[in-house]
Amino acid sequence: MKHSRQIDHLPAAINLTKLHNKYANIEIKHLFIEDPERFANYSLEASGLFLDYSKHKINEKIMSALLSLAEQAGVEKAKQDMMSGDKINFTEKRSVLHVTLRKLSKNNINPGDEILSKIVAVRERMRDIAYAVNSGSWKGYSDKTIKHVVNIGIGGSYLGSKDVLSALEPYHSANLSYHFVSNIDPTDLTKVIAKVDLESTLFIVASKSFSTLETIENAKSARKLLVNHGCPESKIQNHFIAISTNLEATKAFGIAEENTLPMWDWVGGRYSLWSAIGLIIVIIIGYDNYLSLLKGAENMDEHFLNAPIEKNMPIIMAVLGVWYQNYFNSQTHALISYDSRLKDLSEHIQQVDMESNGKQVNQQGNKVDYDTGAIIWGGVGTNDQHSYMQLIHQGTRTVPIDFIIPVKSFNPLESQQQWLLANALAQSKALMEGKTEDIAYDELIDSGKQQQYAEYLAKHKVIAGNKPSSTILMKQLTPETMGALIALYEHKVFVQGLIWNINSFDQWGVELGKELSSPIMEQLTGTASLNLNADSSTAGLINMINSYLKN
Ligand code: F6P
Repeated sequence: MKHSRQIDHLPAAINLTKLHNKYANIEIKHLFIEDPERFANYSLEASGLFLDYSKHKINEKIMSALLSLAEQAGVEKAKQDMMSGDKINFTEKRSVLHVTLRKLSKNNINPGDEILSKIVAVRERMRDIAYAVNSGSWKGYSDKTIKHVVNIGIGGSYLGSKDVLSALEPYHSANLSYHFVSNIDPTDLTKVIAKVDLESTLFIVASKSFSTLETIENAKSARKLLVNHGCPESKIQNHFIAISTNLEATKAFGIAEENTLPMWDWVGGRYSLWSAIGLIIVIIIGYDNYLSLLKGAENMDEHFLNAPIEKNMPIIMAVLGVWYQNYFNSQTHALISYDSRLKDLSEHIQQVDMESNGKQVNQQGNKVDYDTGAIIWGGVGTNDQHSYMQLIHQGTRTVPIDFIIPVKSFNPLESQQQWLLANALAQSKALMEGKTEDIAYDELIDSGKQQQYAEYLAKHKVIAGNKPSSTILMKQLTPETMGALIALYEHKVFVQGLIWNINSFDQWGVELGKELSSPIMEQLTGTASLNLNADSSTAGLINMINSYLKN
């Protein structure tokens, strides 16, 4: 019998339902006793990343059925379709070629190939701009050198670059400060402007469409502030660079052609850090480090494209996710990094994953009756242990976790780094093993508690255990390992989308809120009236807001 939210459109799903019925209560810690080689059997290394997926509710049969799911979803063909530029973003009739953006290996670059030569030409322009800014030859309107770089962009035109720059702090140029302005909230821009000297500030307006409300409004405000500060209109180009597919709009905004970098409709917004949108990365970490970032991603791409399915890291992570979302009703998935430089990773991958796989109809447009994308969230250890980990250890839900652990710190500080590593491993072990009531009781008695109180308290100290997690180790967080890590998650999301038979590359769901904001704005500002008869909540809130604004 099909349990709700389980996959039902692929033959392997029948087998998985049976396996789930049989092994629903499989105990991870017992699996280690049964198979002393379990760690070796359920781990692999690729592109500088080591994945341990032994602490999962899987055995050979389950893993093989899960991998069949990926096979039957057509993962091999889909990879080739993506690489050959087929329009796999079928609702928008677009190719999906972010992988091509990170091709570096000479043997992959055919100078006759139009797309690749365009990519290389833009990369070289990014290099030249970064050099001009870093060498001091790029000057502001009053002849001051550039000291601050401000990226104005939102969503994919912001999250990836922010994540990479936080992660690669040891590689930053010492002479530049960088900032991001994303939100329409005026506080964002105001706070950044307070930190910079406008005469030595370069604004990068990063927007694939160049029509995103937040970005355009922030860019207009920045331009106005600059002019009010004394910048003549004729020198605006000293302070603005645009990156977009919409070259008419960048021109209309007044950004000179030589300061405009193109991108293409085949780069999805959430994959755009690999395009010219990543300019701020090149400026701040330098071109050579940027190439290493691309190299790491390219290594993971090669692995994804060529490794057999049972040794393929993104595919393994994808099917494990499907196992928990569709068979254990997990709903959610956490990314917890034991390196504070990865503080922005979960927010970045949250967009990559949730904007891609938060879909309710399949490729044919029919409503799916199984769960699709998980709610992705996360944070940084050990702070997590003093916050939400309680719910994961003792709450009623199963939250699968990826623990991401760079081993060598750039700031090891005596034994602190070892403590950090020990805590990371302790979390995955505690999640798996838990604590029984008997053990809790014995510990309480040993510590001198009275029998009656020990019996009562032991129940509250029970930790169910059997909570799954993966551990991703890397030697150090470098441009290369960071590139590989991001590409790993991008491919995982792609494979899950294939299994769920959805389009992972569109995002129609974000449109309605955008559409409704304009008439509500008109109502708020009194420039037009909106018929809100059947929505007394929105009408009431508008009235409340207007009354607060007036008094
Ligand atoms: O939130 C929707 C979205 O289209 C994202 O996919 C994209 O990354 C973001 O808006 C920004 O879009 P743009 O780069 O066109 O300004």
